[in-house]
Amino acid sequence: MDLKKSVQQIDSLPSPDFILKKIVDTASSTSASAKELNDIVSKDSGFVSKLLKLANSSYYGLPKKVSKLTEAIMILGFKTVRNMALSIFANEQLFSFKSEELELRELWIHSLSVATIGETIAERIGFSNKEELFLCGLLHDIGKTVQGILFPLLFDAIVKVSRMKGWTYYRTEKELGVPTHEQFAEMLLEKWNFPELVSLAATRHHRTDDFGSSVYTDVVFITSLATYIAERLKYGDNGAGAPILVKHNLWKELGLTPLIMKDIVHMSAEKIGRLSEFYNPLSS
Ligand SMILES: [Fe+2]
Ligand SMILES: [Fe+2]
Repeated sequence: MDLKKSVQQIDSLPSPDFILKKIVDTASSTSASAKELNDIVSKDSGFVSKLLKLANSSYYGLPKKVSKLTEAIMILGFKTVRNMALSIFANEQLFSFKSEELELRELWIHSLSVATIGETIAERIGFSNKEELFLCGLLHDIGKTVQGILFPLLFDAIVKVSRMKGWTYYRTEKELGVPTHEQFAEMLLEKWNFPELVSLAATRHHRTDDFGSSVYTDVVFITSLATYIAERLKYGDNGAGAPILVKHNLWKELGLTPLIMKDIVHMSAEKIGRLSEFYNPLSS
């Protein structure tokens, strides 16, 4: 399979529309104001009502009902509002392709769980930008979406072989000699011009053992560990025959202890339950 040729086909994939792209850019920039974000999001009223519905869901546990976007941005912060916008986009457009081997809703639940667990780990270890970890988790397996939409037979074959052999998804890709979902993710996220930490998480989460030290080491490690936890606890299904391989003692490098890990698992379980409740009616 020619990876270069696939790049051209990437244009046919659903991409965040202008407003969503602006939301990501604005909320990711350090100089943006909440007012700017409000002005952009307000241009799409359908989107605003979905955002408000999500903001008022039990996941965010707001003390009173929020009826205005400005209020939601003020209370939740603009990075959270950006994450909500991207979750809605991903849920509606990226996890809706057809597969004979995997229920796509399961891949969505897997991604949402990795996002939630990643954010919880970040929160627990005092990582300064915990919202970014939600985004990384949400999009970490975006390369599988590219495979599934552009090459459905390839996607199904990887899932089938992974399960048959009891291999990780990444190992199956390597054994079959096909482009990996990390490579597909790289092409797509480059085209979308997403923040570097998101593409690093999506393109390096299976290779933490040789990830040198960088400003984003924690981001990649947290996303990989969150994937491992989601797989071991069977939140959704990512089509793999075995849980992801993470670097030995990676959790210790992140400053985690068994007690904190227990706490993270507990907190995440609660949050994932609430989020799945919200997305159930939205996706049907
Ligand atoms: Fe993966
Ligand atoms: Fe994954």
